[in-house]
Amino acid sequence: MNYLSIKDIDNLSYWVKEAIALKKDPLKYQDLGKNKTIGLLFFNNSLRTRLSTQKAAMNLGMDPIVMNFGNEGWALEFEDGTIMDQGKSEHVKEAAQVISQFCDVIAIRAFASLTDKEKDLAEEVLTAFAKYATVPVVNMESSVEHPLQALADAITMEEFKVPHKPKVVLSWAPHPKALPHAVANSFIEMMQKQDADFVITHPEGYELNSEVVKDSTVEYDQEKAFENADFIYTKNWSSFNEYGKVISQDKTWMITADKMAKTKNAKFMHCLPVRRNVVVADEVLDSENSIVIEQANNRTYSAQIVLKKILEK
Ligand code: CP
Repeated sequence: MNYLSIKDIDNLSYWVKEAIALKKDPLKYQDLGKNKTIGLLFFNNSLRTRLSTQKAAMNLGMDPIVMNFGNEGWALEFEDGTIMDQGKSEHVKEAAQVISQFCDVIAIRAFASLTDKEKDLAEEVLTAFAKYATVPVVNMESSVEHPLQALADAITMEEFKVPHKPKVVLSWAPHPKALPHAVANSFIEMMQKQDADFVITHPEGYELNSEVVKDSTVEYDQEKAFENADFIYTKNWSSFNEYGKVISQDKTWMITADKMAKTKNAKFMHCLPVRRNVVVADEVLDSENSIVIEQANNRTYSAQIVLKKILEK
């Protein structure tokens, strides 16, 4: 069993309930991972994913090995049939098989390049590891998806659920750097499995991949989108059509208390890290309605439920 995508969740509400039960008794399955090793391979930076996935593995009795591929590993080649006479020292074909001898599960973080749309959409790194590894592979954020984050988001929304069908808004917010689409994509795919009034809001030009958005509602007027919302989930992403470009840093899209006042006392969510007073004003992030810290805490239990299911297989 691999966990590469939200599509790998067979029953979201059941997984969420199981994760919440695990959170109440995190060490209950300590024997499940005894004498098993998880290799966490990072091609990019991380705080939450790195620590929460290690914590989840340790809660299950596993031994984590962490490797920062970006600056510690041999530069990997991913294309088949290449003449490797340039900078790449090792082919993923050998690397994935070798790592599989040391690890019972391999987890990988490899962000989008945001320069080569075709390769990013093909999930070059994740797909290659899934192809050549002989053990289960977990996605810790790839070029297209961040399914551990979206599962943590679902757990968090269940914990803060409202007594009616919720209105959930995914809002773009400005950011000085070009950021990937993975968090937004997985959040959308997760919301499409929920019984909710789900609205995506962003400036024109920031349309996400239509194959992900499908028939989800898109509202270009942010304040209109916020009306009666129960959850505001904020995230920046770069342009998908003008691939990887920052086409606007419109500061009027920052999340402020005035905007939150349009909602139905909505909870504020963000996957973190977040730039204060660029993406969201201090007054919102520091408010009682901000649940970003508990959202980050739930990264442990999203990883733990995924690892538990893999170990049980
Ligand atoms: N949300 C998230 O994935 O955080 P890190 O990038 O710090 O792991």
